Amino acid sequence: MENSPHQPPSVDVSHIRVVGVIGAGQMGLGIAQVAAQTGHEVVLVDASLELAARGRDRLAASLGRLVEKGKLAADARDALVARIRPVKGAEDFGTADLVVEAATEHLETKIKLFKAADAAMKPGALLASNTSSISITKLAAVTSRPELVAGMHFMNPVPLMKLCEIVRGVQSSDQTIAAITTLAQKMGKTTILSKDIPGFLVNRMLIPFLNEACFALQEGVGSPEDLDQAGKLGLNHPMGPLELADLIGLDTCLAIAEVLHREFGDDKYRAASVLRNLVAAGWLGKKTGRGFYVYDEKGAKLRPAI
Ligand code: CAA
Repeated sequence: MENSPHQPPSVDVSHIRVVGVIGAGQMGLGIAQVAAQTGHEVVLVDASLELAARGRDRLAASLGRLVEKGKLAADARDALVARIRPVKGAEDFGTADLVVEAATEHLETKIKLFKAADAAMKPGALLASNTSSISITKLAAVTSRPELVAGMHFMNPVPLMKLCEIVRGVQSSDQTIAAITTLAQKMGKTTILSKDIPGFLVNRMLIPFLNEACFALQEGVGSPEDLDQAGKLGLNHPMGPLELADLIGLDTCLAIAEVLHREFGDDKYRAASVLRNLVAAGWLGKKTGRGFYVYDEKGAKLRPAI
């Protein structure tokens, strides 16, 4: 694994056996998958036990496709899924050695979840957020363990993307950063380290790029397909900016753009109105079947939506 010379030293994380995950959406399930794949017991929480259980079933179904393709043995899939235990709520995090929060990009929601997790977790357990832009320092400040809090920002889709961005909050201890970094590497990820500055490293670059594609679209510079071809064939990106925004979720892209705009106070980060309008319409991208493109029920792209 290549890591920058500024990375913290590798430490023993064999004591981190139980990983709590908050959020059974696409990011939470991806984190649950890579944690379970690397032998951890996963305690999965969503707004209710039913939603958490449904999330685990969706993950089992998506792993079923890998079994059909002969990429994963059926018994390995069964063992992986069996390591994921859906529970009622954060009050069930008593056994967790680490909790990773992957709920929606909304500060008040994350604060509520952080407080609940912190109250249930044992002393010394680590608490991380997969937030893509919200201040780790602010989240840490509502807990009784700010030195044990850090950012653990996985990329979407988590099982396929090689990077995990580690974010050091103002109060994160060196040991916490070293442990979270080593754990992410154990989960097969290459890590980078960011200061707790809005957007960190990845979204500081990505969101202005996606937003600029939205401005070009609303100005009629080109069609959605041509903008995406520009990204794919002109820049050699695996996906064009609009289809990538649909994959991430337009609500998430807008939430991050708003954090960058508000926190930096610089109008260069203002969100394009086409992005605001699609979110207002409830067209949030692939997860709702419609964003910049229309998708079938299996997630295959059909045609531009606008
Ligand atoms: N677990 C393990 N393997 C899986 C899997 C899973 N859950 N799902 C799929 N796979 C396997 C597939 O079976 C397939 O294997 P084969 O090639 O052997 O058949 C392989 O992984 C690739 O699957 P796909 O054919 O579906 O993937 P692809 O080649 O079309 O690539 C992609 C898909 C990885 C998403 C690629 O298009 C890509 O890299 N897109 C860009 C994604 C990106 O930029 N993400 C970052 C977003 S930014 C972010 O997340 C941060 C934020 O805060 C907003």
